[in-house]
Amino acid sequence: MIRYDEQAQTFTIHTKNTTYQMAVHPTGVLQHVYYGRRLRGCDLRGLIRYVDRGFSPNPDEAGLDRTFSLDMTPQEYSTCGVGDFRLPSIELALPNGSHTADLRYCGYAVAEEKYTLPGLPAFHGGGETLVVSLEDRAAGVGVDLYYGLWEEYDLITRAVRVINRGGGEIRLCRCASLCLDLPAAGLDLVTFDGRHLAERAPHRAPLLPGVRSVGSVRGASSHQHNPFVILCEHGADEDHGLCYGAMLLYSGNFEASVERDQYDNARLVMGIHPYHFSWTLAPGACFNGPEAALVCSPDGLGGMSRQYHRAIRRHLIRDSRPNTRKPVLVNNWEATYFHFDKDKLLSIAREAAALGIELFVLDDGWFGKRDDDNSGLGDWQVNTGKLPGGLEALTPELEKLGMSFGIWVEPEMVSEDSDLYRAHPDWAFQVPGRKPSRGRNQLVLDFSRQEVRDHVYAQLKAVLSSAPVAYVKWDMNRNLTDVWSAALPPHRQGEVSHRYVLGVYEVLERLRTDFPHILIEGCCGGGGRFDGGMLYYTPQIWCSDNTDGVERLRIQYGTSFCYPVCSMGAHVSAVPNEQNGRITPLATRGIAAMSGAFGYELDLCQCTPEEKAEIRRQTETYKRHWKLLHHGDYYRLTDPFADGPYTAWEQVSPDKREALVSLAAGGAQAAPPFRLLKLKGLDPARSYRVNGGAVYGGDALMYAGYPLPLMLGDYWALQLHLEAVE
Ligand code: DGJ
Repeated sequence: MIRYDEQAQTFTIHTKNTTYQMAVHPTGVLQHVYYGRRLRGCDLRGLIRYVDRGFSPNPDEAGLDRTFSLDMTPQEYSTCGVGDFRLPSIELALPNGSHTADLRYCGYAVAEEKYTLPGLPAFHGGGETLVVSLEDRAAGVGVDLYYGLWEEYDLITRAVRVINRGGGEIRLCRCASLCLDLPAAGLDLVTFDGRHLAERAPHRAPLLPGVRSVGSVRGASSHQHNPFVILCEHGADEDHGLCYGAMLLYSGNFEASVERDQYDNARLVMGIHPYHFSWTLAPGACFNGPEAALVCSPDGLGGMSRQYHRAIRRHLIRDSRPNTRKPVLVNNWEATYFHFDKDKLLSIAREAAALGIELFVLDDGWFGKRDDDNSGLGDWQVNTGKLPGGLEALTPELEKLGMSFGIWVEPEMVSEDSDLYRAHPDWAFQVPGRKPSRGRNQLVLDFSRQEVRDHVYAQLKAVLSSAPVAYVKWDMNRNLTDVWSAALPPHRQGEVSHRYVLGVYEVLERLRTDFPHILIEGCCGGGGRFDGGMLYYTPQIWCSDNTDGVERLRIQYGTSFCYPVCSMGAHVSAVPNEQNGRITPLATRGIAAMSGAFGYELDLCQCTPEEKAEIRRQTETYKRHWKLLHHGDYYRLTDPFADGPYTAWEQVSPDKREALVSLAAGGAQAAPPFRLLKLKGLDPARSYRVNGGAVYGGDALMYAGYPLPLMLGDYWALQLHLEAVE
């Protein structure tokens, strides 16, 4: 619900559990008044206090009133160079050489539908819109602040549009999507950090004076830091305390910075990373920044995550078959790497089909000259040496087995040893006079250029049209360096990284439009581009190249703070694990992968009869419980980073009649204590039958706990299926 109080000059947004208020100060500065637990619709401007503070300048409109300073007042969108010395949201390079921005309120609009952002990912379908317009009169620049909301999910989206209304060319050097000023005393910042094979580990620390910043200048949102952060009360845990989540729907360079200022105010600023970013705006031109999405939860981190999960599943992910189970897949990468032929693939597919697996995914190595990762990228034609007759000959064989077909691509890349590179060496990013850096012995194509995108897409389209393809895995196996485009003049090179991301989005959109039935899985060496931007185009993303059943639990745990289980690609692979050499039971690997977009990635021909029986059981379990696993409310029961005896999580159906509890133990322990696992989210007034046997009260399971069995061995796991007893 959006309320404008003309007399008080306040804008108030109410969601189911939260209230957000801003106010127009008599100077025209748009102040941020309140964001938190839902309050009755009142004028909260009294929360903002005014006092004369040394070294905090006063704008001209304040006259002799020394108590109003941009340096002190909480703002909706911070400016720079005119009195606020804290984190800026916008920076303009004006024709006269000045780098200042000063914004005043100039109007508002409300719409019943949520706004859209051309060429950019955004929450969609329903919602409401508030647009608050600001202007920098001296610069001739307009800044429209967009707010979208879904009351039910406590979701408030934000986006910014900058318009050059002046007569000269200006450059936008910084344009945050979100600025949020909050009282800082007592807040922690949680970030999700890591590296290739170990993505999105939560790190939590109290805000200290100064700035803490995470981000990426890698051209992708990155394995190292995720464009999702949380601010929460010191005492907040899974079930209690006020938490603010902030996600950026963007897949390129980003920055999320939080400043605790001299008076214990916090400012979170999130948007495109200002490193080497600038955007030239000719008179009349405008720039749309990517969308940010806030969820405030008074019910702890778990409540916040569940609201994000619901909103992302229903209003971000565009699934052409939303209420249909995704097929269980087998991917040949860890089974064969580059060394396969048609017979080998079909032998795996035959085993897979007999075990209930429904989709065969052909990974890297099927195209061009590609027997290792040194060549072939850019030549998206089937290697008929490996696959005689092409996909046209392979897919009917799979169809006979009752299997659909999926294929891997890496469209943004080129190998120097490829026909594409030999024909168009200038299509790869390289700075004139420098030799470009290689990553995995490959270069990055300049996707900011239309002709490059058109050429690559035409090849992809031909391959995807040559056979019935049900699934595409879109990979990206290095980060961007030597970012320079032959298509833009020197003063516009700061646009290239963002234009690259827009280019990727454009090709993905074409792919979705031309092949609406294809399920696209995003990938960037695993989870190097796991973000809300990609989820708009690719309903699932390969969560990590680390397929170890134990480390995966940590990665999926960290990922779950923002992103829903259905979006995390997760496969059962062979042991000893390829990444860390660990041996875990097959049952444990199955349980870990089932809380994800489920599949297998091992040579099924090598499995023993017992292993095959276990795989058959797993595919049956997944098919029976997929709705609960993917659409249930997700509860983290333990923290796998806390080094406890086990990791446990739970999915509960929205009507609370059914739940699935999963638990994976750590290393073996002699004479372990008896342990009780306290469940969450059940109906305390109902009774539940566990795994078809004993009946327990929902209250007993939540407040006393479920008595866990004593088990021998490393990394054992169990699943408890709870059904309400009438
Ligand atoms: C990295 C991906 O994450 C892997 O799953 C696999 O597709 C390889 N690339 C193929 O090169």
